[in-house]
Amino acid sequence: MSETLKEYTYSQLALRNGQDKEEVWVAYQGIIYDLSGSRLWRNGKHYEHWAGQDLSEELADAPHSEKVFLKFKKVGKLKAQNR
Ligand code: HEM
Repeated sequence: MSETLKEYTYSQLALRNGQDKEEVWVAYQGIIYDLSGSRLWRNGKHYEHWAGQDLSEELADAPHSEKVFLKFKKVGKLKAQNR
């Protein structure tokens, strides 16, 4: 069964950084997660990382796996960028 998630561009994601807009969204491997409810992502900041971005590569720096995303809602998918 394929999920029907709305597509968002990088610029749309960038606004959801807990500062420009209240929502705290982070993309990981093409999926955008809503971390707004997380105490650990308050104001869009998590240690030295900021929401509103694709943080797939940064996960390697984390002391945890991608399992941390499991309890969060998927709000969309990241639209591939035209280069
Ligand atoms: C310096 C790098 C990082 C540190 C020190 C760090 C530390 C932590 C700690 C201590 C927790 C809570 C305990 C746990 O679940 O293991 C946590 C949760 C989490 N982290 Fe990180 N993290 C880092 C980077 C990242 C990155 C790059 C991402 C995204 C790709 C990320 C996403 C999350 C998420 C979604 C949670 C769950 C938040 C919650 O349950 O409320 N972290 N992190």
